[in-house]
Amino acid sequence: MSDTPPVCDYEGSDYRTRFWQNQNRDYEDQAERVALRRLMPPAGDTLIEIGAGYGRLADEYAGYQRVVLFDYSRSLLREAQEHLGDDPRFIYVAGNWYNMPFVDGLFETMVQIRTIHHAADVPALFAQLSRIARPGGTYILEFANKKNLKAIARYWARRQKWSPFQPEPVEFVELNFDFHPQWIREQLQAADFAPGQTLTVSHYRFGPLKKAVPTNLLVSLDSMAQLTGNWWQLSPSVFVQSQHSSEGVTAVPHTFFACPTCFTPLDPVPDDLLHCPNSACGLNWQIKDGLYDFKEPVTE
Ligand SMILES: C[S@@+](CC[C@H](N)C(=O)[O-])C[C@H]1O[C@@H](n2cnc3c(N)ncnc32)[C@H](O)[C@@H]1O
Repeated sequence: MSDTPPVCDYEGSDYRTRFWQNQNRDYEDQAERVALRRLMPPAGDTLIEIGAGYGRLADEYAGYQRVVLFDYSRSLLREAQEHLGDDPRFIYVAGNWYNMPFVDGLFETMVQIRTIHHAADVPALFAQLSRIARPGGTYILEFANKKNLKAIARYWARRQKWSPFQPEPVEFVELNFDFHPQWIREQLQAADFAPGQTLTVSHYRFGPLKKAVPTNLLVSLDSMAQLTGNWWQLSPSVFVQSQHSSEGVTAVPHTFFACPTCFTPLDPVPDDLLHCPNSACGLNWQIKDGLYDFKEPVTE
């Protein structure tokens, strides 16, 4: 796994308290939930949230039987575990999205919000998601839009060098990218996803406005404006719903995890280990206090 792209590491981060808790972001949180409810099938068997962090949106998945909260940060997943308690529907999995530890064709629904801006290699990420998606499954992706009104105004006023109209991603800070909506659509199509309904979100993400206007009113206004997303996208955040190709394999019943190195389905063995039965690989992966850990293999 040494030649995988770099990862933005949130291990030990105070993301919840620094970014969300009492940080005047109720408007963004609620506007994102409106968009998610519009695009996500409300119920189903398997759902994965990729880059779930501390489980901010986990209460939106009440209609699903098995919900995987997947993240690179063990510490954020432990926070999720703490606040979600013992609900057996939740499965906490630490790993890297460039090496997804699941069998092919497993997930009916996949959700990824506020995370792809950390992806240095979007085609490699989408290839993994395409592998683990069920035929005809749904993928809801939120991305930071480089062609937003503020970026356009700054570019025209010559206060920003990069063009919001150029298709390629812009890395504005190390491992933080904004994307052009058309470029994202092309990458989705190349990975066998058909992008469909698109919503523009967080139109009113402007401090003084958020202070002056009651949050529920701002969310209602955003909710209406979201519907223009199929025609134009000038907001800082865009949600797109894609359907995975109906061809391909569906996971064999009772298989779930796969080795993130060679993608062979894993055998559970006693002592909280998952063992790769591929003799050329043979790696073991740990399950500790309810966390499936695929960041590094362990020796037996
Ligand atoms: C800005 S946080 C968003 C968390 C959550 N989606 C939310 O909206 O509250 C980005 C998350 O992406 C995760 N992440 C970044 N790179 C990753 C990778 N390569 N594999 C898995 N997770 C990753 C981080 O650990 C972090 O929890």
